[in-house]
Amino acid sequence: MRSNMSDASALLQVRGLTRRFGGLLAVSGLDMSVFPGEILGLIGPNGAGKSTTFSMMAGAIEPSAGDIYFQGESLSGVPTHAFAARGIVRTFQHNKPFESMSIQENVMVGMHTQVPLSMWQVVLGTAKAKAHEKHARAQALHWIDFVGLGEYAQADVRTLSFGQGRLLEIARGLAAQPKLMLFDEPAAGLTATECIRLADIIRGIAAQGIAVLLIEHDMPFLMALAQRVVVLNFGEKIAEGSPTQVQADPAVVNAYLGQVKVDHA
Ligand SMILES: Nc1ncnc2c1ncn2[C@@H]1O[C@H](COP(=O)(O)OP(=O)(O)O)[C@@H](O)[C@H]1O
Ligand SMILES: [Mg+2]
Repeated sequence: MRSNMSDASALLQVRGLTRRFGGLLAVSGLDMSVFPGEILGLIGPNGAGKSTTFSMMAGAIEPSAGDIYFQGESLSGVPTHAFAARGIVRTFQHNKPFESMSIQENVMVGMHTQVPLSMWQVVLGTAKAKAHEKHARAQALHWIDFVGLGEYAQADVRTLSFGQGRLLEIARGLAAQPKLMLFDEPAAGLTATECIRLADIIRGIAAQGIAVLLIEHDMPFLMALAQRVVVLNFGEKIAEGSPTQVQADPAVVNAYLGQVKVDHA
């Protein structure tokens, strides 16, 4: 089992991670690890603390206590914008694209974290700036192809369907060269066919060694995709293991009992 692997091989390690909102403990003493190239599901009933955990991992909110280590280094005190540059990328459900731009230009916007140019080099159109631009265009096309939007690369972003917009968002995330991708309910609102395509893409991302952490309320989708699952309830980890193990775990079954519908937040 991966959960028994030495933590020295972990990409991300969370130790005693805690977040309070006033008197409420949204996440409480969470220990978990994410390994390169794995697909790890993060599940739990509504209000369990999943999104709060993501927000701390992505640097959007600060922990009240505990530590997050990425590639062995503490992320404590690292500014929000630097998380993406280090390789932690979160995709959003309803990220608005830049409307007057093509698909390719939209993806290139996601690459700004890696272009080591001064503003003057860009403005003056130096040879170095032009080489970077060429490289960025090729990389953007690569990821657009990867998510299956190749034939729309030059199309106006407004012509994309809802499901294609979700794929564009993933291409933008990939263009930032992540080591860890955080997906918050990527299957929400997609058709059955689009879900199959999305699952293939997520497997393809992990196959490149990128770690995937996935919040998803579509249980059949998640359980078919994840190699390992961590279960939260009231901010605490109540189970961890293979999809088969956690689905058979009485603590997990109990946590979901009485839930009319699983997590929409
Ligand atoms: N910004 C916030 N201010 C106050 N309470 C919050 C905030 N964000 C989340 N919470 C609370 O923290 C708990 C966990 O929320 P969340 O992480 O969104 O759960 P999940 O994503 O598992 O549904 C919930 O009780 C929620 O109401
Ligand atoms: Mg949530």
